[in-house]
Formats: sequence, structure tokens, C-alpha cells
Amino acid sequence: MYTQNPNKLHNADGNDTSWKRAVRRSVRTWYSRNARTFLWRSKNPDPYIVLVSETMLQQTQTSRVQGKLPEFLALFPSFDALASASNAAIIRAWQGMGYNSRALRLRDCASAVVRQHNGCLPDDYVTLRSLPGVGDYTANAILAFAYHKNVAVIDVNIKRVYSRLLRPMATTHEVLAEGVLRPFAETVVPQGGSSTWHQAIMDIGALFCTARKPKCNDCPLQKLCASAGSMAEAQPPRKTEPMHRLEPNRIWRGRTVELLRNLPHGMAIPVRELMNRLLTAPHTTDDEHWFAALLGGLQRDGIAEEADDAVRLKE
Ligand code: ADE
Ligand code: SF4
Repeated sequence: MYTQNPNKLHNADGNDTSWKRAVRRSVRTWYSRNARTFLWRSKNPDPYIVLVSETMLQQTQTSRVQGKLPEFLALFPSFDALASASNAAIIRAWQGMGYNSRALRLRDCASAVVRQHNGCLPDDYVTLRSLPGVGDYTANAILAFAYHKNVAVIDVNIKRVYSRLLRPMATTHEVLAEGVLRPFAETVVPQGGSSTWHQAIMDIGALFCTARKPKCNDCPLQKLCASAGSMAEAQPPRKTEPMHRLEPNRIWRGRTVELLRNLPHGMAIPVRELMNRLLTAPHTTDDEHWFAALLGGLQRDGIAEEADDAVRLKE
């Protein structure tokens, strides 16, 4: 149940400019003292590094990206280097990051930047969206972090913080509809300060306004927030995903790629042996059909290639 926060100085209202000013001031003051330091955060980051890091950050925790990014940049230091990388080289470099198809699309994006844009990452939304793998989030993140444009960046974390801040959320799971969120997101960004602003909101989302157990008592926005201290904890409804032997196919797929990644470069492994390494015997016909479908998916996605009943990473 929602109870009015007794400490609140202002009523949360997206149209109240004095409330928005107070929010901006609190965020700015907090961030100036407490910003997390990351490799991809600098005053004028290289657009290439913004593209790579934001792609990684869509699926992987900041700490892991922080560890992986230098390695990846050493292998592929520029759009040119990434554009000419083979599928197998990219998938090996993406080890530990999950979702290998996204890495291949990042390479395709680099190719498009090299071939269609003279190696220069575009700085307008429509052209960015035309690049492989660049969705609404990535396009706006590039515009804010690489080009300091006044855009609204909205990912799942920012959505959560804004929803709670703006309206009393009954549960930790609830968020506002896009139609309410978007106008707020666009007007709360300080003019000329969109890069710092969004990094700050991401930090507040990660350190205080977490999905399950928000730490409202320590949050710099507590006194301005419509939901401070008043949300019931709620689990998001469990995703139903395709399973095999009690584990999601997604996990099996990751394991299969890991086995292929660890083969000597260029070497293929007989399908039968790969299956033995993945699944404890005995194998049923159901296992065999399931594994054939899994390998089919990896081939369709450009991750693996099969010849003469043996499989390897696509070279
Ligand atoms: N998650 C996505 N982008 C991020 C960024 N730039 N900083 C911290 N966390 C992030
Ligand atoms: Fe989130 Fe609580 Fe901070 Fe509001 S006060 S922004 S709900 S952590």
C-alpha cells in the first residue's frame, strides 16, 4: 500500500518545474561527489568505445564489462579492426558476455560504419537506427554519451527510477507506461548535460533504486520521490522459456558455444562427441532431435558451421 512520504518536500509531478529543478539539483550534487568510475566514462569518449561498451552493457553487469572491455579493445581497437573480424574471432573475444549474436551484429554495425559512413559513427537518430543491431536504447545512448545531444535515454533501469520518482508505485515490480514516462524523460534531462545526467540516474538505479530491495533511506532522491519507502516487494512473473532436461535452452546454447570456443582454432568436433560432452548419456531420440535443433539455430545465427557430421565456430 502507498503511504505518503512524510519527508517529502514537493509533490512529485512531471509538470512541476520547481520539483524537476530540485530533482536535477539533488542528482547533480550527489553525482559530483559519488560518481562511479568506469572505463567508458570520460568527458569526451571515443564514439567507438561508447558503441562497444553500451552494446556489452545491455546484457552484462558493469563489473564484468569493466573487465572485458580493455581486452576487447586491444583485439579490435577501431571500427576498421572490428569490421574485418571473422565470426569465430568475435565469438572468442565475446567469451563470458553471453548472447553471441549480438556480438556478430556489433561487427556488422562496424562494417556498415566503415563502408557507408567513412568510419565515422553517425550523430543523428535516424541514421544510427539504420545500422545493424542499433535499437532505440543504443541510438540514444550514443547521442547522449558520445555526442552530448539533448536526448532521453531509457533503459530498464532508468525506467524503474523515473517511474518510482514520478508516481507512487504500489510494488517494486510496477513501472509507468511509455506514454507517461517518455514525456517526463524528455523534459527532466538538463539542457546540455544529458551525458552526466543519464550516467547519474544509472548510478542511482544501481546503488539505491534497485529492482527488488531499493535503499530509499540512503537515496539522494528520497525527499523528492513519490515512492520512497512505500513499495511492496514483488517478484516479476516468471518467464516461461523453452527448457530441456530441466534447464533453459539458452543455458544449453551458451554451454555449446563454450565447448566450441575451447577447441583449437579452426578445428571441428564430431557432432556425436560434442553431444557427449554436453549431455550425460544415455541419449534418447528426444535428446537427439533437440540437439539437432540447437545446432541448427547456431548455424542460422552465423555462430557455428557444420560439415561431414562435425561442427566448429564459423570461420
Ligand atoms: N548500463 C548501461 N549503460 C551504462 C553506463 N553507461 N554506465 C553504467 N551502467 C550502464
Ligand atoms: Fe528509488 Fe527509493 Fe530513491 Fe525513490 S527514494 S528513487 S524509490 S531508491
